[in-house]
Amino acid sequence: MRIGVLTSGGDCPGLNAVIRSVVHRAVVDHGDEVIGFHDGWKGLLDGDFRKLDLDAVGGILARGGTILGSSRVQPAHLRGGVEQARGHVADLGLDAIIPIGGEGTLKAANLLSEAGLPIVGVPKTIDNDIASTDVTFGFDTAVGVATEALDRLKTTAESHQRVLIVEVMGRHTGWIALHSGMAAGAHAIVVPERPFDIDELTEVVGERFSAGKKFAIVVVAEGAKPRAGTSMEVEQGTKDIYGHERFAGMATQLSTELEQRLGKEARPVILGHVQRGGTPTAYDRVLATRFGWHAVEAAHRGEFGMMTALRGTDIVMVPLGEAVETLKTVPAERYAEAECVL
Ligand code: F6P
Repeated sequence: MRIGVLTSGGDCPGLNAVIRSVVHRAVVDHGDEVIGFHDGWKGLLDGDFRKLDLDAVGGILARGGTILGSSRVQPAHLRGGVEQARGHVADLGLDAIIPIGGEGTLKAANLLSEAGLPIVGVPKTIDNDIASTDVTFGFDTAVGVATEALDRLKTTAESHQRVLIVEVMGRHTGWIALHSGMAAGAHAIVVPERPFDIDELTEVVGERFSAGKKFAIVVVAEGAKPRAGTSMEVEQGTKDIYGHERFAGMATQLSTELEQRLGKEARPVILGHVQRGGTPTAYDRVLATRFGWHAVEAAHRGEFGMMTALRGTDIVMVPLGEAVETLKTVPAERYAEAECVL
């Protein structure tokens, strides 16, 4: 079998572990040939690739980022490139393509699969917002980074009696905010699924100071928004060329607002891309390796138009179409467990 693999969209710790696993399983166990397309779908559309043998994936298990490079592609560009992609797949004699990516990549994978290309998807994202899989690799690493940052920020917040508003990634969902906030014992957690009321948030933080506490830590997901009809005007973000919202910085806006309302010094801290850089945790390496292994097996069974997913402790295959229908948001019951709900 000849398999093409690519990584697309925002990078994520564990991508290299999937690439390595695909090559090991395919080359060593099945005698397949594997090629890697450069910079995501762009590599497939341009026919830009390299051969991946065991040497090519040596020593990458623990390395962050992706050895293949990644990029985003505009949906219209991809739609216009279906025939081009089909041509490259035929010319290269590919029997399967394994794209590793998040929401946008998997939608693109579904589109190409519906156009008849032999696709087996592998979900990734630090945001953990892909439906149909219990967890995506990258999430555990990101939560670890954010939790460590929160632990550190607590001590400086306490020394200066400040409110620190810590912005974590999560454009549509608050999984990183919820898990890191719970793990670090944050005093308020603000997630996109539950638009906030600034009066309520001020009250929660204010009550802490009234109770004699000297500092407060608020974790906010970058995509958090105020509840309609509440009293905070927020700056609107812009859109990037792929149609993704570029956020105007909720931590900064909340910091200004809370400082004025509470009369306490406040500071915004935006963790940003540090959450998705660097070495993956052991959990993410294992999940990524299992996804790679199962993607190759699915390709050999001819299970195209499917995606690897974690259900409980098992890896199962789910239809790509189903996986991209909705995002996995934080349910109200999970948010309620955080003990610092708004
Ligand atoms: O990978 C998803 C994500 O981490 C989002 O949470 C975040 O908004 C986005 O990537 C930022 O990506 P970039 O700056 O690379 O466009």
